[in-house]
Amino acid sequence: MKFYMPTVVYDEPECVKAHAFELASLGKKALIVTGKNSASRCGALSDVTKALWDNDTPYCIFSEVEENPSVETVLRAAAFGKANNADFVVGIGGGSPMDAAKAAAFLMKQDSPEAEMLYDSNFPSSHLPVAEVPTTCGTGSEVTGVSVLTRHQKRMKKSIPHRIFPALALIDGKYLYSAPHSMIVNTAVDALAHLVESYLVKASNDYSRAAVMEGLHVWSRSKEVLAGERKPEAEDCSNLMRASALAGIAISQTGTSLPHALSYILTYEMKMPHGMACGYFLPGFIAEADKKDRKAIAKAACFARPKEMYSFIRDVLSLDEIVVPDEILELAYRTVLADRKRLEGCLFDADETVLGRIAGRSTADGTHNNQL
Ligand SMILES: [Fe+2]
Repeated sequence: MKFYMPTVVYDEPECVKAHAFELASLGKKALIVTGKNSASRCGALSDVTKALWDNDTPYCIFSEVEENPSVETVLRAAAFGKANNADFVVGIGGGSPMDAAKAAAFLMKQDSPEAEMLYDSNFPSSHLPVAEVPTTCGTGSEVTGVSVLTRHQKRMKKSIPHRIFPALALIDGKYLYSAPHSMIVNTAVDALAHLVESYLVKASNDYSRAAVMEGLHVWSRSKEVLAGERKPEAEDCSNLMRASALAGIAISQTGTSLPHALSYILTYEMKMPHGMACGYFLPGFIAEADKKDRKAIAKAACFARPKEMYSFIRDVLSLDEIVVPDEILELAYRTVLADRKRLEGCLFDADETVLGRIAGRSTADGTHNNQL
Protein backbone atom coordinates (compact mmCIF):
# COMPACT_ATOMS: atom_id res chain seq x y z
CA MET A 1 0.00 0.00 0.00
CA LYS A 2 1.30 3.40 -0.88
CA PHE A 3 0.37 6.87 0.28
CA TYR A 4 2.32 9.81 -1.09
CA MET A 5 1.46 13.40 -0.27
CA PRO A 6 4.48 15.67 -0.19
CA THR A 7 2.60 18.99 0.06
CA VAL A 8 2.72 20.93 3.32
CA VAL A 9 -0.88 21.96 4.01
CA TYR A 10 -2.04 24.83 6.20
CA ASP A 11 -5.82 24.91 6.42
CA GLU A 12 -6.78 27.70 8.80
CA PRO A 13 -8.02 31.31 8.84
CA GLU A 14 -5.41 33.88 7.73
CA CYS A 15 -2.91 31.16 6.83
CA VAL A 16 -1.30 33.22 4.04
CA LYS A 17 -0.38 35.88 6.58
CA ALA A 18 0.60 33.36 9.26
CA HIS A 19 2.89 31.43 6.92
CA ALA A 20 4.18 34.32 4.84
CA PHE A 21 7.80 33.53 5.62
CA GLU A 22 7.41 29.92 4.51
CA LEU A 23 5.79 31.11 1.30
CA ALA A 24 8.50 33.67 0.58
CA SER A 25 11.22 31.14 1.41
CA LEU A 26 10.38 29.09 -1.69
CA GLY A 27 12.67 31.29 -3.77
CA LYS A 28 14.01 34.74 -4.54
CA LYS A 29 11.31 36.02 -6.89
CA ALA A 30 7.76 34.79 -7.39
CA LEU A 31 5.68 34.42 -10.51
CA ILE A 32 2.05 34.78 -9.39
CA VAL A 33 -0.36 32.99 -11.75
CA THR A 34 -4.05 33.94 -11.55
CA GLY A 35 -7.21 34.42 -13.56
CA LYS A 36 -8.49 37.84 -14.57
CA ASN A 37 -10.59 38.87 -11.54
CA SER A 38 -11.43 36.31 -8.89
CA ALA A 39 -8.09 36.31 -7.05
CA SER A 40 -8.25 40.05 -6.47
CA ARG A 41 -12.01 40.13 -5.75
CA CYS A 42 -11.77 37.59 -2.94
CA GLY A 43 -8.71 39.21 -1.36
CA ALA A 44 -6.29 36.33 -1.97
CA LEU A 45 -4.09 38.26 -4.37
CA SER A 46 -3.55 41.16 -1.97
CA ASP A 47 -2.86 38.72 0.90
CA VAL A 48 -0.20 36.95 -1.17
CA THR A 49 1.45 40.13 -2.46
CA LYS A 50 1.54 41.55 1.07
CA ALA A 51 3.04 38.32 2.41
CA LEU A 52 5.80 38.49 -0.21
CA TRP A 53 6.31 42.23 0.22
CA ASP A 54 6.63 41.87 4.01
CA ASN A 55 9.37 39.32 3.46
CA ASP A 56 11.29 41.40 0.88
CA THR A 57 10.47 38.99 -1.92
CA PRO A 58 9.74 40.58 -5.30
CA TYR A 59 7.08 39.18 -7.61
CA CYS A 60 5.55 39.53 -11.04
CA ILE A 61 1.92 38.76 -11.88
CA PHE A 62 0.53 36.83 -14.84
CA SER A 63 -3.24 37.28 -14.65
CA GLU A 64 -4.36 35.96 -18.02
CA VAL A 65 -5.35 32.39 -17.17
CA GLU A 66 -8.69 31.52 -18.78
CA GLU A 67 -11.17 28.81 -17.78
CA ASN A 68 -9.73 25.45 -18.85
CA PRO A 69 -6.28 26.93 -19.54
CA SER A 70 -4.64 26.13 -22.82
CA VAL A 71 -1.14 24.94 -23.57
CA GLU A 72 -0.57 28.29 -25.29
CA THR A 73 -1.48 30.20 -22.11
CA VAL A 74 0.94 28.27 -19.91
CA LEU A 75 3.68 28.79 -22.49
CA ARG A 76 3.04 32.54 -22.26
CA ALA A 77 2.99 32.43 -18.44
CA ALA A 78 6.30 30.55 -18.40
CA ALA A 79 7.91 32.95 -20.88
CA PHE A 80 6.74 35.88 -18.74
CA GLY A 81 8.12 34.26 -15.57
CA LYS A 82 11.45 33.45 -17.19
CA ALA A 83 11.79 36.97 -18.61
CA ASN A 84 11.27 38.30 -15.07
CA ASN A 85 13.75 35.84 -13.53
CA ALA A 86 11.15 34.29 -11.22
CA ASP A 87 12.36 31.14 -9.48
CA PHE A 88 9.13 29.95 -7.85
CA VAL A 89 5.43 30.05 -8.73
CA VAL A 90 2.33 30.90 -6.71
CA GLY A 91 -1.01 29.86 -8.19
CA ILE A 92 -4.10 31.64 -6.88
CA GLY A 93 -7.65 30.74 -7.85
CA GLY A 94 -9.65 27.73 -8.88
CA GLY A 95 -8.34 24.72 -10.74
CA SER A 96 -7.48 26.68 -13.87
CA PRO A 97 -4.87 29.08 -12.39
CA MET A 98 -3.55 26.41 -10.02
CA ASP A 99 -3.08 23.88 -12.83
CA ALA A 100 -1.56 26.57 -15.06
CA ALA A 101 0.85 27.50 -12.24
CA LYS A 102 2.12 23.91 -12.08
CA ALA A 103 2.59 23.62 -15.83
CA ALA A 104 4.36 27.01 -15.91
CA ALA A 105 6.66 25.87 -13.06
CA PHE A 106 7.56 22.82 -15.16
CA LEU A 107 8.21 24.82 -18.33
CA MET A 108 10.21 27.51 -16.52
CA LYS A 109 12.68 24.85 -15.41
CA GLN A 110 13.49 24.09 -19.07
CA ASP A 111 16.08 26.04 -21.05
CA SER A 112 13.82 26.48 -24.08
CA PRO A 113 10.22 25.65 -23.10
CA GLU A 114 8.13 24.04 -25.83
CA ALA A 115 4.57 22.73 -25.91
CA GLU A 116 5.66 19.15 -26.75
CA MET A 117 7.54 18.86 -23.45
CA LEU A 118 4.27 19.14 -21.55
CA TYR A 119 2.85 15.90 -22.92
CA ASP A 120 6.12 13.96 -23.31
CA SER A 121 6.20 11.45 -20.44
CA ASN A 122 9.85 10.64 -21.21
CA PHE A 123 10.83 14.22 -20.48
CA PRO A 124 12.11 14.73 -16.88
CA SER A 125 9.38 16.17 -14.63
CA SER A 126 11.60 18.57 -12.68
CA HIS A 127 10.01 21.92 -11.93
CA LEU A 128 10.33 25.11 -9.89
CA PRO A 129 8.74 25.12 -6.41
CA VAL A 130 5.00 25.84 -6.43
CA ALA A 131 2.66 27.21 -3.76
CA GLU A 132 -1.12 27.15 -4.30
CA VAL A 133 -3.84 29.27 -2.76
CA PRO A 134 -7.30 27.91 -3.68
CA THR A 135 -10.31 30.22 -3.97
CA THR A 136 -12.91 27.60 -4.98
CA CYS A 137 -13.96 24.30 -3.40
CA GLY A 138 -13.63 21.66 -6.07
CA THR A 139 -10.39 21.00 -7.78
CA GLY A 140 -8.13 19.98 -4.91
CA SER A 141 -5.28 20.99 -7.22
CA GLU A 142 -3.48 22.52 -4.23
CA VAL A 143 -2.69 18.99 -2.98
CA THR A 144 -2.34 17.01 -6.21
CA GLY A 145 0.40 16.64 -8.77
CA VAL A 146 -2.13 16.98 -11.58
CA SER A 147 -2.32 19.73 -14.19
CA VAL A 148 -5.14 19.51 -16.73
CA LEU A 149 -4.71 21.63 -19.84
CA THR A 150 -6.73 22.22 -22.98
CA ARG A 151 -5.12 21.12 -26.22
CA HIS A 152 -6.90 23.03 -28.95
CA GLN A 153 -4.87 21.15 -31.54
CA LYS A 154 -6.49 17.89 -30.38
CA ARG A 155 -9.81 19.47 -29.36
CA MET A 156 -9.61 18.10 -25.83
CA LYS A 157 -8.69 18.60 -22.17
CA LYS A 158 -6.07 16.27 -20.80
CA SER A 159 -3.78 15.93 -17.77
CA ILE A 160 -0.10 16.32 -18.51
CA PRO A 161 1.87 13.19 -17.52
CA HIS A 162 4.26 15.09 -15.22
CA ARG A 163 3.46 15.03 -11.52
CA ILE A 164 3.97 18.50 -10.07
CA PHE A 165 3.04 18.50 -6.39
CA PRO A 166 2.93 21.93 -4.76
CA ALA A 167 5.44 22.43 -1.96
CA LEU A 168 2.87 24.45 -0.03
CA ALA A 169 -0.95 24.69 0.04
CA LEU A 170 -2.50 27.63 1.90
CA ILE A 171 -6.21 27.00 2.39
CA ASP A 172 -8.40 29.74 3.88
CA GLY A 173 -12.18 29.43 3.64
CA LYS A 174 -12.60 33.22 3.54
CA TYR A 175 -11.61 33.27 -0.13
CA LEU A 176 -14.74 31.29 -0.97
CA TYR A 177 -17.08 33.66 0.81
CA SER A 178 -17.57 36.07 -2.09
CA ALA A 179 -17.98 33.34 -4.73
CA PRO A 180 -21.31 33.14 -6.59
CA HIS A 181 -23.66 30.34 -5.50
CA SER A 182 -23.47 28.59 -8.88
CA MET A 183 -19.69 28.47 -8.67
CA ILE A 184 -19.78 27.05 -5.15
CA VAL A 185 -22.25 24.38 -6.29
CA ASN A 186 -20.33 23.42 -9.42
CA THR A 187 -17.01 23.15 -7.63
CA ALA A 188 -18.49 21.34 -4.61
CA VAL A 189 -19.96 18.73 -6.97
CA ASP A 190 -16.53 18.39 -8.57
CA ALA A 191 -15.11 17.63 -5.11
CA LEU A 192 -17.92 15.13 -4.53
CA ALA A 193 -17.09 13.45 -7.84
CA HIS A 194 -13.43 13.22 -6.82
CA LEU A 195 -14.41 11.57 -3.53
CA VAL A 196 -16.80 9.08 -5.08
CA GLU A 197 -14.62 8.24 -8.06
CA SER A 198 -11.58 7.72 -5.85
CA TYR A 199 -13.58 5.27 -3.73
CA LEU A 200 -14.79 3.31 -6.75
CA VAL A 201 -11.48 2.53 -8.44
CA LYS A 202 -9.27 -0.50 -7.93
CA ALA A 203 -6.34 1.77 -7.01
CA SER A 204 -8.08 2.87 -3.81
CA ASN A 205 -6.69 1.58 -0.52
CA ASP A 206 -7.32 2.09 3.19
CA TYR A 207 -5.39 5.36 3.21
CA SER A 208 -7.14 6.94 0.23
CA ARG A 209 -10.50 5.70 1.50
CA ALA A 210 -9.87 7.32 4.87
CA ALA A 211 -9.52 10.65 3.03
CA VAL A 212 -12.69 9.89 1.01
CA MET A 213 -14.81 8.99 4.02
CA GLU A 214 -13.76 12.04 6.01
CA GLY A 215 -14.10 14.19 2.90
CA LEU A 216 -17.70 13.02 2.34
CA HIS A 217 -18.50 13.66 5.97
CA VAL A 218 -17.06 17.19 5.95
CA TRP A 219 -18.73 17.90 2.58
CA SER A 220 -22.12 16.78 3.90
CA ARG A 221 -22.15 19.49 6.59
CA SER A 222 -22.92 22.14 4.01
CA LYS A 223 -25.53 20.40 1.89
CA GLU A 224 -28.17 22.98 2.81
CA VAL A 225 -25.95 25.71 1.43
CA LEU A 226 -25.57 23.82 -1.85
CA ALA A 227 -29.33 23.29 -1.98
CA GLY A 228 -29.85 27.04 -1.54
CA GLU A 229 -31.67 26.54 1.77
CA ARG A 230 -29.37 28.87 3.68
CA LYS A 231 -26.55 31.31 3.05
CA PRO A 232 -22.98 30.08 3.58
CA GLU A 233 -21.31 30.94 6.86
CA ALA A 234 -17.57 31.06 7.47
CA GLU A 235 -17.66 27.47 8.71
CA ASP A 236 -19.34 26.27 5.50
CA CYS A 237 -16.64 27.87 3.40
CA SER A 238 -13.96 26.15 5.49
CA ASN A 239 -15.80 22.83 5.33
CA LEU A 240 -16.25 22.92 1.57
CA MET A 241 -12.63 23.89 0.97
CA ARG A 242 -11.45 21.17 3.37
CA ALA A 243 -13.62 18.56 1.66
CA SER A 244 -12.11 19.63 -1.65
CA ALA A 245 -8.57 19.24 -0.27
CA LEU A 246 -9.38 15.81 1.20
CA ALA A 247 -10.80 14.84 -2.19
CA GLY A 248 -7.61 16.07 -3.81
CA ILE A 249 -5.54 13.97 -1.42
CA ALA A 250 -7.67 10.94 -2.34
CA ILE A 251 -7.41 11.36 -6.11
CA SER A 252 -3.72 12.08 -5.92
CA GLN A 253 -3.43 8.44 -4.75
CA THR A 254 -6.00 6.86 -7.06
CA GLY A 255 -6.83 9.12 -9.98
CA THR A 256 -10.40 9.77 -11.08
CA SER A 257 -12.75 7.51 -12.99
CA LEU A 258 -15.48 7.45 -15.61
CA PRO A 259 -17.48 10.62 -14.78
CA HIS A 260 -14.33 12.71 -15.17
CA ALA A 261 -13.28 10.87 -18.31
CA LEU A 262 -16.74 11.40 -19.85
CA SER A 263 -17.00 15.00 -18.67
CA TYR A 264 -14.14 16.44 -20.68
CA ILE A 265 -16.02 16.22 -23.99
CA LEU A 266 -19.03 18.10 -22.52
CA THR A 267 -16.78 20.83 -21.20
CA TYR A 268 -14.90 21.13 -24.46
CA GLU A 269 -17.87 20.94 -26.84
CA MET A 270 -20.58 22.66 -24.75
CA LYS A 271 -18.48 24.83 -22.42
CA MET A 272 -20.25 23.10 -19.53
CA PRO A 273 -18.56 23.90 -16.19
CA HIS A 274 -16.28 21.06 -15.09
CA GLY A 275 -18.14 20.19 -11.88
CA MET A 276 -21.49 20.16 -13.64
CA ALA A 277 -20.14 17.96 -16.43
CA CYS A 278 -18.82 15.45 -13.88
CA GLY A 279 -22.06 15.69 -11.90
CA TYR A 280 -24.03 14.88 -15.05
CA PHE A 281 -22.56 11.37 -15.05
CA LEU A 282 -22.08 10.89 -11.31
CA PRO A 283 -25.48 9.40 -10.29
CA GLY A 284 -25.31 6.90 -13.15
CA PHE A 285 -21.79 5.95 -12.13
CA ILE A 286 -22.67 5.37 -8.47
CA ALA A 287 -25.71 3.36 -9.51
CA GLU A 288 -23.46 0.80 -11.24
CA ALA A 289 -21.37 0.17 -8.12
CA ASP A 290 -21.87 -2.76 -5.75
CA LYS A 291 -24.73 -2.28 -3.33
CA LYS A 292 -22.47 -2.13 -0.27
CA ASP A 293 -20.29 0.56 -1.88
CA ARG A 294 -23.31 2.62 -2.96
CA LYS A 295 -24.67 2.47 0.56
CA ALA A 296 -21.31 3.29 2.18
CA ILE A 297 -20.86 6.35 -0.03
CA ALA A 298 -24.40 7.64 0.55
CA LYS A 299 -24.16 7.04 4.27
CA ALA A 300 -20.82 8.86 4.60
CA ALA A 301 -22.36 11.86 2.83
CA CYS A 302 -25.37 11.67 5.20
CA PHE A 303 -27.99 10.59 2.67
CA ALA A 304 -30.52 8.02 3.87
CA ARG A 305 -30.15 6.04 0.64
CA PRO A 306 -28.26 6.31 -2.66
CA LYS A 307 -31.35 7.50 -4.56
CA GLU A 308 -31.52 10.58 -2.34
CA MET A 309 -27.96 11.35 -3.29
CA TYR A 310 -28.74 11.07 -7.01
CA SER A 311 -31.70 13.45 -6.68
CA PHE A 312 -29.63 15.90 -4.66
CA ILE A 313 -26.94 16.05 -7.35
CA ARG A 314 -29.50 16.45 -10.12
CA ASP A 315 -31.40 19.15 -8.21
CA VAL A 316 -28.48 21.34 -7.14
CA LEU A 317 -27.12 21.29 -10.70
CA SER A 318 -30.60 21.69 -12.26
CA LEU A 319 -29.69 18.82 -14.56
CA ASP A 320 -33.29 18.29 -15.63
CA GLU A 321 -33.07 21.60 -17.49
CA ILE A 322 -29.96 20.59 -19.38
CA VAL A 323 -30.04 18.77 -22.68
CA VAL A 324 -26.86 17.16 -23.89
CA PRO A 325 -27.18 16.27 -27.58
CA ASP A 326 -26.96 12.56 -28.35
CA GLU A 327 -23.98 13.06 -30.65
CA ILE A 328 -21.97 14.58 -27.79
CA LEU A 329 -22.88 11.74 -25.43
CA GLU A 330 -21.91 9.32 -28.17
CA LEU A 331 -18.57 11.06 -28.65
CA ALA A 332 -17.90 10.97 -24.88
CA TYR A 333 -18.87 7.28 -24.80
CA ARG A 334 -16.63 6.39 -27.77
CA THR A 335 -13.68 8.31 -26.35
CA VAL A 336 -13.85 6.58 -22.98
CA LEU A 337 -14.56 3.18 -24.53
CA ALA A 338 -11.16 3.45 -26.24
CA ASP A 339 -9.52 4.12 -22.86
CA ARG A 340 -9.13 0.53 -21.65
CA LYS A 341 -7.08 1.53 -18.63
CA ARG A 342 -9.88 3.71 -17.27
CA LEU A 343 -12.49 1.00 -17.74
CA GLU A 344 -10.31 -1.71 -16.22
CA GLY A 345 -9.48 0.57 -13.28
CA CYS A 346 -13.12 0.65 -12.16
CA LEU A 347 -13.95 -1.28 -9.03
CA PHE A 348 -17.01 -2.78 -10.71
CA ASP A 349 -17.13 -4.42 -14.14
CA ALA A 350 -17.44 -1.58 -16.59
CA ASP A 351 -18.09 -3.11 -19.98
CA GLU A 352 -19.52 -1.49 -23.10
CA THR A 353 -23.11 -1.76 -21.87
CA VAL A 354 -22.39 -0.40 -18.41
CA LEU A 355 -20.40 2.51 -19.86
CA GLY A 356 -23.27 3.19 -22.26
CA ARG A 357 -25.70 3.44 -19.35
CA ILE A 358 -23.38 5.74 -17.37
CA ALA A 359 -22.87 7.90 -20.45
CA GLY A 360 -26.65 8.30 -20.80
CA ARG A 361 -26.34 6.96 -24.31
CA SER A 362 -29.53 5.94 -26.03
CA THR A 363 -29.46 2.17 -26.32
CA ALA A 364 -31.63 -0.30 -28.19
CA ASP A 365 -33.49 -1.27 -25.03
CA GLY A 366 -33.76 2.38 -23.95
CA THR A 367 -31.82 1.92 -20.72
CA HIS A 368 -29.64 4.72 -19.46
CA ASN A 369 -28.64 6.14 -16.13
CA ASN A 370 -28.68 9.88 -16.54
CA GLN A 371 -32.22 10.27 -15.32
CA LEU A 372 -31.90 8.40 -12.06
FE1 LIG B 1 -12.45 17.42 -11.26
